[in-house]
Amino acid sequence: MKVSELTQGLNIEYLPKLPKNKSIGIGIVGAGAIVEACHLPAYKKAGLNVVGIYDTQPDKAASLSKQFELERVFKSLDELLNHPEIKVVDIAIPAKYQPDVVERVAAAGKHLLCQKPLGESFEEAKRVSNAVALSGVKGAVNQQMRWSPGIRASHFIAKNGWLGEITQASIQVNVLTEWEQWPWITKINRLEVMYHSIHYLDSIRSVLGVAPEYIYADGAKFPGQTSIGESRTMIHMKFPGETRGLIHDNHNNFAEQDDWYATFRFEGTEGIIKGTNGALYNYPYGREDTIQYLSKKIDPVRWFSPRLEGKWFPDAFMGTMGELLLAIEEDREPENSVQDNLDTIRMVFASYLSMEENRPVRLDEFK
Ligand SMILES: NC(=O)c1ccc[n+]([C@@H]2O[C@H](COP(=O)([O-])OP(=O)(O)OC[C@H]3O[C@@H](n4cnc5c(N)ncnc54)[C@H](O)[C@@H]3O)[C@@H](O)[C@H]2O)c1
Repeated sequence: MKVSELTQGLNIEYLPKLPKNKSIGIGIVGAGAIVEACHLPAYKKAGLNVVGIYDTQPDKAASLSKQFELERVFKSLDELLNHPEIKVVDIAIPAKYQPDVVERVAAAGKHLLCQKPLGESFEEAKRVSNAVALSGVKGAVNQQMRWSPGIRASHFIAKNGWLGEITQASIQVNVLTEWEQWPWITKINRLEVMYHSIHYLDSIRSVLGVAPEYIYADGAKFPGQTSIGESRTMIHMKFPGETRGLIHDNHNNFAEQDDWYATFRFEGTEGIIKGTNGALYNYPYGREDTIQYLSKKIDPVRWFSPRLEGKWFPDAFMGTMGELLLAIEEDREPENSVQDNLDTIRMVFASYLSMEENRPVRLDEFK
C-alpha cells in the first residue's frame, strides 16, 4: 500500500468477500432460530442462490421457505442431497446431530458449511474433520465473528504489520444474557465458552494468525442462575514468544444497558487497536462496531477512527459462506476450514479441562 494511502489510515479492507459466481446452489439443513435470523437474511443480502431447506420438523422448513421465498422444501436429507443443483450444504442444527449429517453430506460429494461448535467433544469434532478429509469435499465452519466488521478490520491491520509484534489480545464483555430464551442451553453443563466465548477464542486466533500454546481458564456461575453451566469466564492464553491473550466475560450484568460493554483491544510493539462489538450494545437491535487504531508506522502517529459498516449479525454470515464459495471457485482450502477450526475446538476443550483440573492446559493435549 502506498504511503499516501497509508496516511489516510482509513483504507481498511474488512467487508465479507463473495464469489464471482453467485449461482452455485445451496441447500440448508435446519430451519431454526439462527437460520431465520442470520443465515437466510445474509444470503439474501449477498444475492446467493438458496435452492431449498430441510428440517426434521417439516412445518419449520415450510415456514422459512415461505418467508424467504425458497424454491423447495425437502422431505428428507436424501432428497436434498439428490438435488442436482445443490453443490453446497449449509448445516445449522445442534452440535450433537452434526457429525452424522456431515458424514452423509460429505459422502454425497457436497461441499459443506458446519455450525459451531464443530462437536460437543473433541472426538466428535475429529469425526467431522475426518469425514471431510476422506471425501475430498471442501468443509468450512460458520465461526463468523472473525468476519464481524471490528474483528475483520483488526485482522487487516494486524496482517499489514501496523501493530508490529503483537503483545496482547483482549476481549472483555459485561452484559446480561437471558439464556432462558434457548431452553436447551440452560440444561447443559458447558455453556459460556462452548456457545459464546468460542467466538472470541476464534476471533483472537484469527487476528493473531496463530494458536496459543496453552490456556489457563476459570469459569463460575452467578448465585441463583437457572442455567447449570458457567456464565462467567476468564481465559488466559499464552501464545508463542511474548504474546498473551485474555477473555473476561460476564453475562450477569443487571445494571442498565449504559453500563454494559463489549470491547476488544489488540496491542503490539508498533500499534494499538481498540474497539467495541456493536452486536452486544443496544440489545436486541445492536449497533455498528467501532474501531480506533494508531500505528507508529503511519505518519503522523495519531488515532484513526474509520467508520465501519455492517454488524456481526447477520452480515458476518456472508463472510463464512462467502469464503467457502470463494474457496470452491478458486479450488483452495477455505480460511475457516474444518481442519483450521480444530484449533478453536482445542481452545474450547483446553479451557474446560483447565477449569476442571485447575491448571494450564496445552493445546497439544488434544491430538
Ligand atoms: N452465532 C452463531 O454462530 C450461532 C448462533 C446461534 C446458534 N448457533 C448454532 O446453530 C445451531 C442451531 O441453533 P438454533 O438456535 O437455530 O437452534 P434451533 O433449536 O432454533 O433450531 C435447530 C433446528 O434444527 C432441526 N434439526 C435438528 N436435527 C436435525 C437433523 N438431523 N436434520 C434436520 N434438521 C434438524 C430442529 O428441528 C430445529 O428446527 C446450533 O448448533 C447452535 O449452536 C450459532
